[in-house]
Amino acid sequence: MTQDEMKTLVGQAALDYVTAGSVVGVGTGSTVDKFIDALGAALKTDPQRVVGAVSSSVRSTERLLALGVKVLPAESVSSLAVYIDGADEINHQGDMIKGGGAALTREKIVADLAERFVCIADETKLVDTLGRFPLPVEVIPMASAQVIRRFTAMGAQAKVREGVTTDNGNVIVDVTGLSITNPAQMESDVNQWPGVVTVGIFARNRASVCLLGTPNGVRTLTF
Ligand code: 5RP
Repeated sequence: MTQDEMKTLVGQAALDYVTAGSVVGVGTGSTVDKFIDALGAALKTDPQRVVGAVSSSVRSTERLLALGVKVLPAESVSSLAVYIDGADEINHQGDMIKGGGAALTREKIVADLAERFVCIADETKLVDTLGRFPLPVEVIPMASAQVIRRFTAMGAQAKVREGVTTDNGNVIVDVTGLSITNPAQMESDVNQWPGVVTVGIFARNRASVCLLGTPNGVRTLTF
């Protein structure tokens, strides 16, 4: 089974976690695109499958609107039962690195509204320790050099992602050479640095469930 087929599998499986007639939180990325496709197919036979969505990016909003799904502003919703999103890495406790698609801030905002975070990913994303994937950090541009210096002082390598401006008008700093053994602590620490909008560690908003695509089908991890 290809990686793309595994993504299709978990995108489809995520539908089982969405209560009929609810408003669903929708993340961003190629795996979430598969979920949106599955949702679109379900809406053809059951137009009330969901009554709306709260989206974490312009990209997902456009895809949802194209399928006729009503997209509600996050500010208009006080809670969501479920948020469906992918990850760049997930450990065995459900902590994640996210932001490969530069949508981490809005993703964390929508995840924070949700009672359950259902992570959908192929099996290559499961790791023992977070940090192999470059950690994305959304930073206000004038703080980028100082944020890079701080990571360098920790023994890591950091650089601004070229050609990328986030949906919020900021830059992404990608950090390599970290071994994130205490994700919640590092999330809190980096979020205190002036100019950091969001660090791509999702420990305080970690997954409740992960649907992991494998060549043998969907493996469900609960945390
Ligand atoms: C976007 C994200 C994505 O969830 C993450 O990059 C995974 O993407 P994909 O499903 O394309 O592998 O955090 O900011």
